[in-house]
Amino acid sequence: MNRLRTILPALLVLLCLSCSGEQECTVIPRPLSVQSESGVFRAGVPFAVAVEAPETVANALTDYLSSSSLPCHRCDTAATLRLELSDDASLPLSDEGYTLEVRPDRIVVRSRGEAGLFYGIQSLLQLYDRHGARIPALQIADSPRFAYRGMHLDVSRHFFGKEFVKKQLRMMASLKLNRLHWHLTDGAGWRIAIDRYPLLTEVAAWRREPTWQAWQAGNRHYSTASAPGAYGGYYTKDDIREVLACADSLHITVIPEIEMPGHSEEVLAVCPELSCAGKPYVSGEFCLGSEETFVFLENVLTEVTELFPSEYIHIGGDEVSGQAWASCPKCRARMEREGLGSAQALQAYAIRRIGRFLEARGRKLVGWDEILDSGPMPGAAVMSWRGEEGGRRAAALGHDVIMCPGSHCYFDGFQDNPEREPQAFTGYLPLAKVYSYDPAPAALSGREHIIGVQANLWTEYIPTPSQAEYMLYPRMFALAEVAWSAPETKDYADFRRRALRFCDRARRQGYHTFDLRAEFGERTESLAPVRHLAVGCPVHYTYPWHPDYPADGTAALTDGLRGPWSYGTRWQGFRDTDMEVTVDLGRVRPLRSIAADFIQWHSAWIWLPAQVEFSVSDDNSGFRTLAALPNSLPSDCHRPAYRTFAWHGETTGRYVRCRARSQGFPGGWLFTDEIIVN
Ligand code: ACM
Repeated sequence: MNRLRTILPALLVLLCLSCSGEQECTVIPRPLSVQSESGVFRAGVPFAVAVEAPETVANALTDYLSSSSLPCHRCDTAATLRLELSDDASLPLSDEGYTLEVRPDRIVVRSRGEAGLFYGIQSLLQLYDRHGARIPALQIADSPRFAYRGMHLDVSRHFFGKEFVKKQLRMMASLKLNRLHWHLTDGAGWRIAIDRYPLLTEVAAWRREPTWQAWQAGNRHYSTASAPGAYGGYYTKDDIREVLACADSLHITVIPEIEMPGHSEEVLAVCPELSCAGKPYVSGEFCLGSEETFVFLENVLTEVTELFPSEYIHIGGDEVSGQAWASCPKCRARMEREGLGSAQALQAYAIRRIGRFLEARGRKLVGWDEILDSGPMPGAAVMSWRGEEGGRRAAALGHDVIMCPGSHCYFDGFQDNPEREPQAFTGYLPLAKVYSYDPAPAALSGREHIIGVQANLWTEYIPTPSQAEYMLYPRMFALAEVAWSAPETKDYADFRRRALRFCDRARRQGYHTFDLRAEFGERTESLAPVRHLAVGCPVHYTYPWHPDYPADGTAALTDGLRGPWSYGTRWQGFRDTDMEVTVDLGRVRPLRSIAADFIQWHSAWIWLPAQVEFSVSDDNSGFRTLAALPNSLPSDCHRPAYRTFAWHGETTGRYVRCRARSQGFPGGWLFTDEIIVN
């Protein structure tokens, strides 16, 4: 009886699975369709591999398999693992699609393309990792949702060597990601050898400060490789060829980014003649009035295109102020000659010109969404990072678009409780939010132009390889599923279970992942409304809130809703001012406590108040001070902090005033979410 009790539930689960034909599938990204069959693969290991494909393809696939965890050898007869290139009508149409059939006597992967066979192998490797050789019989039919499935890596703010890059390429391949966007140049360091301009790597690739923060807080100068304590590095052309060969073997295209016309302080430090001032360390933007700038950019791009075979070359184009251009005689002369009415138009001129240069070399330009700010950019693809609006606009104009909005795709933000996590950039982007992203919802007009999605890893706050992996994984698993899997198959609870398993696998492979099992989750206070005496009471503001952070307007501080980790919602922001609000409770009431929470978030220039004062009045005049509570957290604390300032006691009153005194940093913010009165 007891034995039956233990066996019965397991039997029921097996029965249910075989009745429904649904397979518990642990593969990430989730395949389009998985049907379970009866039995398990029994042929054992090593797998005897036969490939039906041209010899070069067969060699590439068997070489890959031999370097994988799958015990195998090549054979021509009695194969137990067959890989078949085929154009059979039953196969998925995409060259990246595949079918994978596991039967008791053999496993067959079929595809129209080599990439599809490679992805079928990735699914098989994951099944093997989960089940060993006794893989349950099943049939998978799979193909990707998007053609562009990308990961971006900033190697300027902190430098990551070629072995690190190759390691991430291997993880990308197992997630069926196929584009690495390599951010090779930026103000904090130039990272690619260019023969014609050796100073870019002799000087502009090095600084004295090992962290971006220290460099940023200092004079932001460059150094040389041989200077004592020099930090930095760059990829030689051979390094890049090695990375490209690795990527090619993993069916990944590497897209280099050479930033222009902004984010170029490092270039202008060693080529000051290309800046409007003609001096180093003045501006971060190329002088666009000077022909020398275009000669330089074209020379660099010539060497870049000689190295990189990618169809797309990324030219940046983001975050340009154009301030130096307005007072530069050469830029003004160009604007007049070309009829360019604004800094944006001058930037568009430069980008169009570079686009034509690339086009003449058979390449296409891709840039951040600012490249469309002054109108269409013929032939260019657009990466939408300032939200999705830029991408939507670009898609409506017929541009190819890669979605990577900060809200869902910036992996430099915190993935868990910011008070406990290692320092990161602003924002809270947990796994569930990445997973929830849909880059091309059905209602989007021009959605056929959304060619894919990408996660961006900016590395200002990521000084080490292990920290980079920690920020990437498991969020990259979720991004892979967003990029590959059909949205109608999405199920976060199921994904999270698979992600936990995949984290274990990644750790066994030597990746330093975030510990998903220990995830804390969203700020507890924000999970349920708080009840208190002031809920729904009117609030008078002595100083207005800032229009960028209104939260719920006049209702925000008495709506019963506490702020989440992210200060972008529910928190009300005040800039360059104290915060003073008076809550009208409607009648004189007994009072026992008054509290308000504030945030300090150094990188977002949000500060705790120097002091918070609570006072009460019966008639909205003659306020009695109840408490003046000083802040004890130093302003140089970089870690985000959420602090409650509270008075406890016994009194009565109708009008409750909270005054939070700013620390007075120019441009500084105060953020609060609720005045809680009991
Ligand atoms: C960007 O994050 N500035 C593209």
